[in-house]
Amino acid sequence: MRHLIDFDQLSLEEWDKLYNLTRAIMRDPGAYADSCKGKLVGTLFYEPSTRTQLSFQAAALRLGAQVIGFSDAASSSAAKGESLRDTIKIVANYVDAIVIRNPMEGAALAASLYSPVPLINAGDGAHLHPTQTLADLATIQTEKGSLNNHVVGLCGDLKNGRTVHSLLKALSRFGGNTFVLISTDTLKIPDYVRRALEASGARYTEVNSLEAVIGDLDILYMTRIQKERFPSEEAYKREAGIFILDPPKLQLAKQSLMVLHPLPKLDEITDEVDIDPRCRYFAQAEYGMYIRMALLHTLLPLKREVPKTELFDRETVCDNPRCVTAFERYLPPLTQDGTCLYCQKDLPH
Ligand code: NCD
Repeated sequence: MRHLIDFDQLSLEEWDKLYNLTRAIMRDPGAYADSCKGKLVGTLFYEPSTRTQLSFQAAALRLGAQVIGFSDAASSSAAKGESLRDTIKIVANYVDAIVIRNPMEGAALAASLYSPVPLINAGDGAHLHPTQTLADLATIQTEKGSLNNHVVGLCGDLKNGRTVHSLLKALSRFGGNTFVLISTDTLKIPDYVRRALEASGARYTEVNSLEAVIGDLDILYMTRIQKERFPSEEAYKREAGIFILDPPKLQLAKQSLMVLHPLPKLDEITDEVDIDPRCRYFAQAEYGMYIRMALLHTLLPLKREVPKTELFDRETVCDNPRCVTAFERYLPPLTQDGTCLYCQKDLPH
């Protein structure tokens, strides 16, 4: 692994190594305090973030590395119309690794094609969020003892929730898991996640009641309805407030249930629920920092390699208006089996 764009890029051996390193760092963080001294990390956040950005910054500083970056696209040259490619080539001159969050689907893959330093996807629009998945897996593996044989419910905005897409794709690689997808008809998982589930052979069902299934679950992954991805306020309001985890619903759940949430949470989990010991989302955010330390510790020492990506001049690659190829017209048209490799949507026939 050189860049982390999708959890798929890690073999299960690499996952084990990363997880074991995370545990070692958690046991003795002081032993790693200077391990990345002299290195510099660039955090390019074109979308709002609290946990991901601050935990990456904390992770870098706790390894003895330093951080530069921006947390608002309006304060970067993107506001002047600079291409993603130029921004990456420039920033890579200054830093040893880049962490990027961008609203365009496929932006991290696109950026990695021009990056001589390791590049980490911290969220590309409604597509993927692999480092949240690392945090989720570390929480489950540590507290449940394994990543296999769980009944996992995912509830809320399964269409636009990038953490859901990455987590489903990742957990379906570990045997014996069953998925219960809880959403409205409008907010079901996209086709590329469905294809990954089907290819893995994992069992899954789709339902529209949390109450009806909560008693069956070992893990419940709640998510926020992603307001910023809706075409209008009215469209958002039709979907908001439908799935709410409150004490009466939790009473129907197993004592061994683990409730996760990538956060931020709004009204989908009521405040009284936070003190229930089954709720592990604050711990999950803490695992997130330690596993990001392990990731930076692994990627920061890699040597620079200047990619030789050619520039294209083309009309379109795919017809997804949120795909990076709709904005950055010079990108190579990467496709496979009728799908766009940037955003994973089906290509027009
Ligand atoms: C998530 C994200 O940005 O996708 N937040 C996070 O990174 N933990 C979830 C969300 O915004 O709902």
